[in-house]
Amino acid sequence: MPQYRLILTIIGLICVLFPFTTNATKQNNSQIYIVHCEFPDGERTTRNQDLESYYLSFLPATTSDSSREAPRLIYSYRNVITGFAAKLSLEDLKEMEKMEGFVSARPEGILDLYTTHSVNFMGLNQNMGFWNDSNYGKGVIIGVIDTGIFPDHPSFSDDGMPPPPTKWKGICQFNTTKCNNKLIGARYFRYTGNDPWDEDGHGTHTASTAAGRFVAGANIFGNANGTAVGVAPFAHVAIYKACDDISCYGSNVLSAIDMAIEDGVDVLSISFGNRFREFYEDDIALGAFSAMERGIFVSGAAGNSGPFSFSTSNDAPWILTVGASTIDRKIKATAVLGNNQEFDGESAFQPSDFPPTLLPLTYPGNNASDYYAIYCDPRSLNNMNVTGKIVLCKSRSTEQVDTGKAVKAAGGAAMIIMNSEYWANTTFAEAHVLPVTHVTYADGLKIQEYINSTTTPTATIVFKGTIIGNDRAPVVAGFSSRGPSYVSPRILKPDIIGPGVNILAAWHISLENDTRTNSTFNMISGTSVSCPHLSGVAALLKSVHPDWSPAAIKSAIMTTADVINLKSNLIEDETYLPADVFATGAGHVNPSKANDPGLIYDIEPSDYIPYLCGLNYTNRQVTVIAQRKVNCSEITSILEGQLNYPSFAIQVKSNSGVQVYSRTVTNVGQANSTYRVDIDSPRGLDVKVEPTTLVFSEVKQKLSYQVTFTPFATPSTISSQGSLRWISENHIVRSPIAVRFSDFR
Ligand SMILES: *[C@@H]1O[C@H](CO)[C@@H](O)[C@H](O)[C@H]1NC(C)=O
Ligand SMILES: *[C@@H]1O[C@H](CO)[C@@H](O)[C@H](O)[C@H]1NC(C)=O
Ligand SMILES: *[C@@H]1O[C@H](CO)[C@@H](O)[C@H](O)[C@H]1NC(C)=O
Ligand SMILES: *[C@@H]1O[C@H](CO)[C@@H](O)[C@H](O)[C@H]1NC(C)=O
Ligand SMILES: *[C@@H]1O[C@H](CO)[C@@H](O)[C@H](O)[C@H]1NC(C)=O
Ligand SMILES: *[C@@H]1O[C@H](CO)[C@@H](O)[C@H](O)[C@H]1NC(C)=O
Ligand SMILES: *[C@@H]1O[C@H](CO)[C@@H](O)[C@H](O)[C@H]1NC(C)=O
Ligand SMILES: *[C@@H]1O[C@H](CO)[C@@H](O)[C@H](O)[C@H]1NC(C)=O
Ligand SMILES: *[C@@H]1O[C@H](CO)[C@@H](O)[C@H](O)[C@H]1NC(C)=O
Ligand SMILES: *[C@@H]1O[C@H](CO)[C@@H](O)[C@H](O)[C@H]1NC(C)=O
Ligand SMILES: *[C@@H]1O[C@H](CO)[C@@H](O)[C@H](O)[C@H]1NC(C)=O
Ligand SMILES: *[C@@H]1O[C@H](CO)[C@@H](O)[C@H](O)[C@H]1NC(C)=O
Repeated sequence: MPQYRLILTIIGLICVLFPFTTNATKQNNSQIYIVHCEFPDGERTTRNQDLESYYLSFLPATTSDSSREAPRLIYSYRNVITGFAAKLSLEDLKEMEKMEGFVSARPEGILDLYTTHSVNFMGLNQNMGFWNDSNYGKGVIIGVIDTGIFPDHPSFSDDGMPPPPTKWKGICQFNTTKCNNKLIGARYFRYTGNDPWDEDGHGTHTASTAAGRFVAGANIFGNANGTAVGVAPFAHVAIYKACDDISCYGSNVLSAIDMAIEDGVDVLSISFGNRFREFYEDDIALGAFSAMERGIFVSGAAGNSGPFSFSTSNDAPWILTVGASTIDRKIKATAVLGNNQEFDGESAFQPSDFPPTLLPLTYPGNNASDYYAIYCDPRSLNNMNVTGKIVLCKSRSTEQVDTGKAVKAAGGAAMIIMNSEYWANTTFAEAHVLPVTHVTYADGLKIQEYINSTTTPTATIVFKGTIIGNDRAPVVAGFSSRGPSYVSPRILKPDIIGPGVNILAAWHISLENDTRTNSTFNMISGTSVSCPHLSGVAALLKSVHPDWSPAAIKSAIMTTADVINLKSNLIEDETYLPADVFATGAGHVNPSKANDPGLIYDIEPSDYIPYLCGLNYTNRQVTVIAQRKVNCSEITSILEGQLNYPSFAIQVKSNSGVQVYSRTVTNVGQANSTYRVDIDSPRGLDVKVEPTTLVFSEVKQKLSYQVTFTPFATPSTISSQGSLRWISENHIVRSPIAVRFSDFR
């Protein structure tokens, strides 16, 4: 439903409203609002009962107007924000605004939802090195906010798992006892059914990617056969079902984080989000801030809106923002045309009985008067006869199984999916319901040319199974959202990339009634999938370094990331050209190196306050995030670039001069170590660092340096990139430098 935003500033009152008004709410304006408030004396009560009665005092008494629904308290938040969710009409809101202690209110947002060779691909091997040293995440609790979980899946077996740590206070809301020492908690929230059961599969997939147990003989229709395992197989899992199979409700998300904080999770994994939200009206950013203050690490999906600039979500600096890239495995399916041309594509469904005979090939998209025909929309297929044919269709999302169902329903024999121009060479191996191959955009064009060149185009598909060892990997996925950050463009986003294309993980549904196609694992793609990989890595690091703050863990992951692929070339993007830093962030996660970063860039929760003031947020907006009264005029605010972040994002405006930032690094390597700086200057910018050598004599010692960026030319490109590295005998601590030559914000 199209939504437009109305910004009302009620003159003379101390509050600001940001209502989303829809056609539906014009007729019936009761809807769920997130209301932020504060205690008159600035003191927060600690007794939950007092808190709830305080919140209830904001709700206007039952309305006399019988056409209106009575206001209702939906969630009373205890940890995540000072405030509550309530069903209110605009009239109720107006009354509420007059009350002392009211700060702001906004309608809840709806967030979009965005598997296991990938673990070995990240360099984790059983009984060896870091994976073994971290005890596979033993003792750490990962909270997954998603569509629920399928508790009986073997990925959540608790065989050999110790009980949860004593700090655990969570509960299990399954009707029958489904939780165990692996799945230690499960909660559900409004609109999501009557239990934490995963009706979709998404939550089961993300939870098992972060922390699934070893399951031998996992495969999808016999492909990618092997032992499936999550990144932190000995970590405990708690699921918070805040989403149905399509979307996540803002009030639920806040409540889920509220509960997760109280329950005692160590890591939160959030594979959904929305874009273009300032931090004070972004439920995930708000929730993550409170979580971070309590030492909880938050990993969030960057979004699937790539390759367009300014498309990242979950881009608050206190969140690890995770983009997606490929692994070195392909499940090959080759399109063979009547003229003998061959194009390698992918599919997870590899029927052995598909005949190699050529079948008629058709492209519905050649009907120029039907726009949707290029996507093989069911409506378009109704208008044509595709019976017994191989149908060429263009892709428009990370999931094409439904397109295949439409082609099959229309009588098609097989399907070739070609990519959109934007996603270029990023292809998916999915659990299709008919013979399919997904080919690149360039190959799709060649197939179109062939179709145009003859009156009787024909083709077939040859299935070639699982092939490991593609040394181009990792490649940034076309869909992976790109920086700069819209909300805070001088913080580089995404932070990191990790495996997110064609990942096999737990999934409980049989895709069809055909028993041959049963699969308790499924292969999906998205930043939804890369995010839980990083949640798992954070759990491993937390297990080895329980004293590291969320910022320290993030720093360790970022400064040790890989910038080259298996072939030792620069990591490429979907066009197979070197990826830019707004696609990769710091690079591809390297968990073993992250375990021993040498230096870390730490950030205290209170350091974010001067940063938020520096974003020119009002006192009220900062108060909403910080949950305590903040007066920006009383503190020294800082520029975004001055936050002690492990990367640099420099904006060069037409009139900008020299920019100077400082950073402080903490020694977590050998006590006596000496680092010298190595600078790879971005085009158009001179970079100087003072001092050029850092000499440490103690562990945990902090030293600072200053970096001066001097623009000397505006290149013809819109951006450029470089790096700043601190190099010692045993460590390289790398920070990417992103430069954007523009006047944005
Ligand atoms: C408004 O919507 C709610 C539920 O969506 C319904 O219960 C209520 O009767 C509606 N009120 C009016 C006036 O339509
Ligand atoms: C794996 O970890 C265990 C327990 O921490 C240790 O005893 C063992 O030596 C380690 N094995 C290897 C190969 O490092
Ligand atoms: C729980 O399960 C039992 C037995 O299957 C059933 O009778 C009961 O209605 C269920 N309760 C809920 C709340 O779903
Ligand atoms: C998967 O691999 C296991 C062990 O290598 C083997 O026993 C099993 O038959 C394989 N399954 C399939 C479907 O190929
Ligand atoms: C092309 O699309 C139009 C509009 O949907 C439809 O009416 C027409 O039958 C189609 N033509 C062919 C040849 O399929
Ligand atoms: C569709 O095409 C097939 C094969 O070309 C043919 O056998 C069938 O009769 C056609 N169906 C209709 C409704 O035209
Ligand atoms: C194929 O022909 C159609 C018109 O029949 C044209 O619009 C399209 O651009 C052609 N495609 C290629 C790849 O040549
Ligand atoms: C599977 O079988 C059940 C029962 O026979 C039926 O109700 C359902 O529609 C079938 N589903 C599909 C996808 O064919
Ligand atoms: C597929 O699932 C059905 C129902 O759960 C089961 O009866 C059947 O044995 C399974 N088939 C295979 C090949 O695992
Ligand atoms: C990769 O994508 C680019 C851009 O679409 C294209 O030019 C190139 O041919 C593709 N490479 C391969 C191997 O498909
Ligand atoms: C905040 O406002 C100051 C003064 O108007 C301006 O110089 C600065 O660029 C603004 N900062 C941001 C992040 O918009
Ligand atoms: C570090 O160096 C100092 C002075 O050179 C020495 O006194 C100290 O023992 C060394 N510390 C370690 C842990 O090697």
